[in-house]
Amino acid sequence: MSLDRSTQPPTPVAPLPAADPFAGEMRRFYARTAGSLSELERARRHLPAGVCSNFRMMDPHPLFLRSARGSRVLDVDGHEYIDWGLAQSTLLAGHAHPAVIEAVRRQVGSGTMTCYPHPRTADLAALVCERFRLDLVRFVNTGSEATQFAVRVARAATGRDSVLKFDACYHGNGPEFWLGKPETDLPAGAPEWMGQEIYSAGIPRALVSKTCLAEYNDLESVRAAFHEHPGEIAALILEPVVFNLGVLLPRQGFLQGVRDLCDREGAVLIYDEVKMGCKLGLLGAGEYFGVPADLVAMAKSIGGGFPIGLFGGRRDLMEGIETRNVKHVGTYAANHVGLAAAHATLTEVLTPGNYDRMFAVNQTLADGYREIIARAGLEAHVVTAGASGSMFFSRGPVHGVADFKRTRLDKWQRFWIGMLNRGVLPQAQGPEDIWTVSVQHSDDDVETTLRAFREVAPLLA
Ligand SMILES: Cc1ncc(COP(=O)(O)O)c(C=O)c1O
Repeated sequence: MSLDRSTQPPTPVAPLPAADPFAGEMRRFYARTAGSLSELERARRHLPAGVCSNFRMMDPHPLFLRSARGSRVLDVDGHEYIDWGLAQSTLLAGHAHPAVIEAVRRQVGSGTMTCYPHPRTADLAALVCERFRLDLVRFVNTGSEATQFAVRVARAATGRDSVLKFDACYHGNGPEFWLGKPETDLPAGAPEWMGQEIYSAGIPRALVSKTCLAEYNDLESVRAAFHEHPGEIAALILEPVVFNLGVLLPRQGFLQGVRDLCDREGAVLIYDEVKMGCKLGLLGAGEYFGVPADLVAMAKSIGGGFPIGLFGGRRDLMEGIETRNVKHVGTYAANHVGLAAAHATLTEVLTPGNYDRMFAVNQTLADGYREIIARAGLEAHVVTAGASGSMFFSRGPVHGVADFKRTRLDKWQRFWIGMLNRGVLPQAQGPEDIWTVSVQHSDDDVETTLRAFREVAPLLA
């Protein structure tokens, strides 16, 4: 997922010289997606870059999708794709899951929102508190709200201002998260935000002045950050498994080390489970790894395709919303549609039986990819976590952002275009992104995907 490609508007000109063996694939892509390109041109008349989130700016152009159902999406040119991107890994339920749609349909008939509490709010709160081991919770609409309010609660509880995050890790729109260590020597194919210190124009330096940086999977860097900012850090926020630099798994002992440092330094540990939440299994990351956070932020998969998120955790911290004057407000918070969708998703869709199936499908997909990689002699490997996975174009392991930058990021677009040309949307939008298996993906989807990859793999050698 690219954070900002705003200096690189989609271009209708194929960037490859004709002699490049991939040029044929590019020509095929342009021919197949002429309708998307013309939709983009139309959209750009009134929408900056023709899209409503910079993540949707793609090189050479995004697909314009007309409809989505189950594991499939349909583009404006009439091509169907097996969708492993699933709306930036939101749809563990798959597209338009019948149970979710039915729950929403029933709810819409009796109102979509009132800005007064609905009885289902307490039901859903009880359900998520039990399932994700939270004392108290508040509902929001997006992951960005969830992470920002979690940080606000932590700041209020500790009386400190600073936030520690990991370089190049994404936590949504909160300006304090848009700081990184700029890479001066950007490798080919690297997303351009990696070359920027503040990832977007329009974020004053003052708004990132309370952000401290460390490196994921490098406990020493966390220790150093606490050492450099004694008594200042309110919270450390991280994705326990990073799902925004491909899939990065925590090294043995890393999460416990982080937990211990937060305890020693009096900082709140926040798990950002907006993207990875629900992907590892029924319970939250705290249970999965045996290392609980103090607060968690969730969104995406819990809503089954409808906007709802949450932040919650330790009672003494969350009580600040009642007792310490921590303001959390939102017109659409706990709107009836989101509540209905989340309730159906958590009770009827994300069930133990469905998890078994998703994990089995993911295993078959990953094993198939690995076999083809080995046969083609590619410098690539696959990493999985629960229902998700990612492909790295490197032989060596990828533990952190430095390893990630050393992968052959330039190969990613070829993988992407080659697979799209064969009716497979192999993952969400960029080399930093991942794939996800939904409850509606089938073994047939895997077979078709692997057939496509068998043809694409030689183009990546
Ligand atoms: C880890 C993480 N945190 C927060 C967010 C922000 O969520 P939203 O786009 O719903 O605001 C995202 C979105 O991709 C995410 O991946």
